[in-house]
Amino acid sequence: MTETNETIDLMMNHTSVRNFTEEAIEPKDLEKILKAAQMASTWKNFQSYSVIVVESQAQKDAIYEFQPQKSIKNCAAYLVFVGDLNRAQKAVELDQGNFQPQGIESLLITSVDAATAGQNALLAAESLGYNGVMVGLIRDQSSEISKVLNLPDYTYPIFGIALGKAARLNKVKPRLPLEATAFKEKYVEQTSETIEKYDQVQEEYAGNRRLNKWSERIVDQWGQPEISASTENLKAKKLLFN
Ligand SMILES: Cc1cc2nc3c(=O)[nH]c(=O)nc-3n(C[C@H](O)[C@H](O)[C@H](O)COP(=O)(O)O)c2cc1C
Repeated sequence: MTETNETIDLMMNHTSVRNFTEEAIEPKDLEKILKAAQMASTWKNFQSYSVIVVESQAQKDAIYEFQPQKSIKNCAAYLVFVGDLNRAQKAVELDQGNFQPQGIESLLITSVDAATAGQNALLAAESLGYNGVMVGLIRDQSSEISKVLNLPDYTYPIFGIALGKAARLNKVKPRLPLEATAFKEKYVEQTSETIEKYDQVQEEYAGNRRLNKWSERIVDQWGQPEISASTENLKAKKLLFN
């Protein structure tokens, strides 16, 4: 039997939860979750992201209005992870530099920072008996969500995490076989057989639930040009050139 430990067990049992009870998150637990998020690795220690903790029903409803996912409305706390170069602008100003944040690399730095912090937050929450789901589709309404959250220049919403006590737990979702995603020394390109086999695995996992085929969901995402809302908002927030 493989040796394991509490941390790895927690990770192996992760499953997204979208339905919550009415139980709140204890303030001391929320603080632990946010502090654990802060301790994630971050590019050059720049910490180029912020978290907005939304707990009021009014503010949750305001976000839900633009991104109607039940988890947002029903969670105990909705944490919005924001890519943030606003503080960087202040630092550059302090040192009389010429602030030039526009470009893809800045977006990668800020979004990877937010993702490492977000994953820490979700794992910390799970370790404390809560569950949640990341919600990236808020980017489809980037500028509306930015207005609701009062986001200034050089910031943009990346994803939210709806957190609370699970009303229902799904079975752990099987991933692609390890050999299709982790390679020794050099990249190994996969064939359509890998995709077909995983479609089958996902179908078995779904059981009676009617879900589109995994590969068809990929077509929905990448079989058409990307939605421009996120790009337009990044231009408005001065993180991309017009
Ligand atoms: C960046 C990111 C954004 C996501 N956005 C959504 C979303 O908008 N709505 C949703 O229901 N799930 C969302 N998810 C959750 C994924 O669908 C889920 O993690 C994936 O299907 C694997 O299932 P599991 O987390 O239960 O193992 C998101 C996950 C990530 C990492």
